[in-house]
Amino acid sequence: MVEETMLEPIVIAIDGPSGAGKGAVTHELALRTGFHILDSGALYRLTGLAVRQDAVSFSDETGIAAVAANLDVAFLPVTGQPEPFKVTLRGEDVTDRIRTDAAGVDASVVAALPLVRSSLEQLQRRFRRAPGLIADGRDMGTVIFTDATVKIFLTASAEIRAERRYKQLKNKGMDVSLAALLESIRDRDARDATRAVAPLKPAEDAIIIDSSHLSLQAVHEAVWAVVAENALSDANDFI
Ligand code: C5P
Repeated sequence: MVEETMLEPIVIAIDGPSGAGKGAVTHELALRTGFHILDSGALYRLTGLAVRQDAVSFSDETGIAAVAANLDVAFLPVTGQPEPFKVTLRGEDVTDRIRTDAAGVDASVVAALPLVRSSLEQLQRRFRRAPGLIADGRDMGTVIFTDATVKIFLTASAEIRAERRYKQLKNKGMDVSLAALLESIRDRDARDATRAVAPLKPAEDAIIIDSSHLSLQAVHEAVWAVVAENALSDANDFI
């Protein structure tokens, strides 16, 4: 008789500040492994957008938590695009709208509210499905998936992250200023790292990778080396 396994699908947690390259690393790992993706930052961005659509006040924590608890969102996989998904909110395609710097700022404001974070916990855990999950965020390894098989904390200096974000947004045709982006990244880092709940910090068992002076290819290789060493024996057939 085949013994029923109670093992949960494995999780690879990729945490770190914005602009460190988590999105690209997550996408690449998902392509290599066939695992699902959780873009947890998108859930906070979507909450911020829904709060604006419903004209809920940004100081109304209970109201914002109710919006988060009832988010009508879908992540629809697309191929051949820089982003792995089309993201919809209430049936409307908001893929580009949630990627603006302003949407990131709104996200970090709602993400600092404890009731909002708890509203989104179960939704995030539901992304854990076979054959496995690559979870991208700030608290994947410290709060949401504390039992993740691999925890990576990907970081880079604020200046380098601002430059990368500047190029990304320019390429999308958005009109942005490098100085303003750097200031916004510093503000966001400070808000994410000093909030009372789930502050941005590496899990004790995370492996830290500083991507400041690495090419994207080198980052992918460094991450893959960690994943291969720590997770391959748990997932026999995912390469
Ligand atoms: O990763 P991204 O830049 O899309 O995240 C937007 C904001 O959402 C972050 O600055 C952070 O404040 C918040 N966030 C969070 N916890 C996560 C993911 C994102 O607090 N797991």
